[in-house]
Amino acid sequence: MTTVDTTRPVGEIVMQQPGLARVFERLDIDYCCGGKMSLEDACDQKTLNVDHVVALLEEERQRASHQPDPINPATMTLTELADHIESTHHAYLRSELPRLHALTRKVSEVHGGRDARLRNVHLTLCALADELTSHMMKEERILFPIIRQMESGVTDAAAHCGTMAAPIRQMEHEHDQAGSALSDLRELTEGFAPPEWACNTYRAMLDALDTFEKDMHRHIHKENNVLFPRAMQMEQST
Ligand SMILES: [Fe+2]
Ligand SMILES: [Fe+2]
Repeated sequence: MTTVDTTRPVGEIVMQQPGLARVFERLDIDYCCGGKMSLEDACDQKTLNVDHVVALLEEERQRASHQPDPINPATMTLTELADHIESTHHAYLRSELPRLHALTRKVSEVHGGRDARLRNVHLTLCALADELTSHMMKEERILFPIIRQMESGVTDAAAHCGTMAAPIRQMEHEHDQAGSALSDLRELTEGFAPPEWACNTYRAMLDALDTFEKDMHRHIHKENNVLFPRAMQMEQST
């Protein structure tokens, strides 16, 4: 049984649930200017199997409805938690930041004349995306490997003595900067609320920024409040 009416215009589908824009973007279906076309016709035009597209839309809807994080980081080992952060939050950022970059650029170019804050949204996102890319690399190449090694007991305590506090402080400082950029994005978009004249790309951008903020908050919580303090405790007890 399907809950997607394939005779509905794709623009209406996105209007009702902007997160579904991800599926249309992957399939190169125009949900903005060409949004009046029905899902059936849009699939025909792209020679896509409509049942397959409906299944993808359902999958995305399911994925979005599982937003509450089922993970309890307090019950995981530090290695499990570092692995989890990489495979979920870092993987999410690597796939979503290019999309956010493209969406904010498009909205800035098309609507920046009407609302100049949209240009700042794009610039803020670009700077934040660069910082996060470098930040994740530092965690994955330097800090997380030290944490895993220490937990496994492979390394000599003296070999890493004093090496954990400085990178953790640096990561926490970068988290503060990211938090401040996220607040700016929220303020610039009035809490990710679309104006009544917003097109579907604009709505998809706001939905994506809202999801991005939520994921970043969960991600930073796991590092600042669980992984890092427990790693510091472990270092001090070795
Ligand atoms: Fe991280
Ligand atoms: Fe981090």
